[in-house]
This record gives sequence, structure tokens and C-alpha cells, in this order.
Amino acid sequence: MSEYSELLKRLDRRDLPQHIAIIMDGNGRWAKKRHLTRVKGHERGSKVVKYIVETAAEIGIKVLSLYAFSKENWNRPKEEVDALMQLLHRYLLTEGNNLIKNGIRLTVIGDLNSLSPKLRELITDVCERSRNNPKTRVVIALSYSGRYEIVEAVKSIIKDVQSGSLDSSVIDEQMFNGYLFTKDIPDPDLLIRTSAEKRISNFMLWQIAYTELYITKTLWPDFTKAEFLKAIINFQKRERRFGMTGDQLITQQIKSHGYPLNE
Ligand code: FPP
Repeated sequence: MSEYSELLKRLDRRDLPQHIAIIMDGNGRWAKKRHLTRVKGHERGSKVVKYIVETAAEIGIKVLSLYAFSKENWNRPKEEVDALMQLLHRYLLTEGNNLIKNGIRLTVIGDLNSLSPKLRELITDVCERSRNNPKTRVVIALSYSGRYEIVEAVKSIIKDVQSGSLDSSVIDEQMFNGYLFTKDIPDPDLLIRTSAEKRISNFMLWQIAYTELYITKTLWPDFTKAEFLKAIINFQKRERRFGMTGDQLITQQIKSHGYPLNE
């Protein structure tokens, strides 16, 4: 039996993280180790995206967010930026119909105005055609930065207060959340970062307040379906307290699930 099938049996289907976010890092180092161009690392990385999306859908993960390109990544050499944009274009062209056929919904978040009109058009097309799909929601963060998202939310709130459509006295965390790109998406339960870096790199800064972190030294192009399951199994062993005591947590779990989750 393969490692993946073994791990699948150990997965607690009653306690899956609803939302998994991934910082896919290490494409460049993977390529360098093999004396290949960085672009080859990204190419291999986009193949990994394909099977991790499939795996997430297969096991019933509700939301999978992938950090594909940050606003800071625009500063990379032009040929690398162009190649990454082409890869994203190719992924949507070749995988768009598969995603739709398999009940997956695509959402893209970030500063989409900075993308080429052609890529924007393709994104709108796949997002629109998949919008009623009930299975996994794949969120691709593209030209994204957490600070940018927060500043944009603040600007929209000010606009709405000035126009009179929003009363400033009702501003609270929940309302603020409604102004983010992720307004209709639950916060990530688990954030995976590959390639051993212990950084958040401006990803979903607001949303990860209580997210569990899983950092692996595996480079993204080497990340396997089995390691994805390992990350989830590791998550399932953790005690998420959200500021409560351990006893309060158990009482709450019994109330909502009928049993304590980590016994
Ligand atoms: C970080 O590795 C990775 C990126 C900046 C790009 C991620 C893109 C992909 C995985 C492929 C395309 C995505 C989709 C959704 C089809 P790095 O280049 O910073 O690696 P390094 O730190 O080793 O140099």
C-alpha cells in the first residue's frame, strides 16, 4: 500500500481543516540545485499545484488558498515575471475546464488591475463559470499583499462612511472582515509553508490571527500528496484554544461535536 493510502486511513474526516492556505516557496532553490533556470522550478511548481488541488477536492477540503504571486514579486527580473504570468495563463487554460467539471470553484484575489487584460479576462471567465460549484473553493492570490488588502478595505470603509451608506459607529472586526477580498471565505485553519522559511511574507495578515502554522523544509516542487496529508494529520493533533483554557475548550468541543476532538 502506498504511503498516501496509509495516511488517508489515518485522516480524521470529522475534523478536517475547512480552509488550508499554502505559501508555495522554494521553486528557485529546487531549480538551482539541478542547474536549471528558475522558470523550470516554477513550471514544476505549477504541476504540484494541479495535484494538490485535486487532492484537496478528493478529501473534501472546503477552501484551498494558494499564494501564487505577491505584489512584491513584480520586482523580480522581467523574464521571470513574464514566465510566471504565462504559467498562470496556461494553468487556467488547461485546467479551467477540469476545475469546472470537477465541481471546483475558482476565486482570484489581489490587485487584479495590475494584470494584463488577457489574463484578467481568462480569470473572470473561469471564476464566473465556476461560481456555483459546490466542492472545494480554490483561491489563488495573485499580485496580492496582505497590507494592500487591509489598506484597500480601509479606503472602501472611508468612502462608504463619507457617502453616508455606512455608519462609523458600527465598525467592528466582523464588519471590517466584510471589506476584505476574502469576505465570504472562512479564515484559514492551517497555513502550510514549504522550503523551511519561517515567514508570513505578507500573506492574509488579517485572516491568519488564529491559524495553525505548518512549516516543512520540502521545497514546493517536491511537495507530495502524502506530505499534504501529513500536514493535515499534524494539524488534527493540535489543540486550538482561541484564547480559552484547555478545560473550556473540551466543554465547547463536546457541545458542538458531541465528543472531545483530541482524545
Ligand atoms: C516562490 O518560490 C514561488 C513563487 C513566487 C511562485 C509560485 C508559483 C507557482 C507554484 C506556479 C504557478 C502557480 C499556479 C497557481 C499555477 P521562489 O521562486 O521564491 O523560490 P526560492 O525562494 O527558492 O527562490
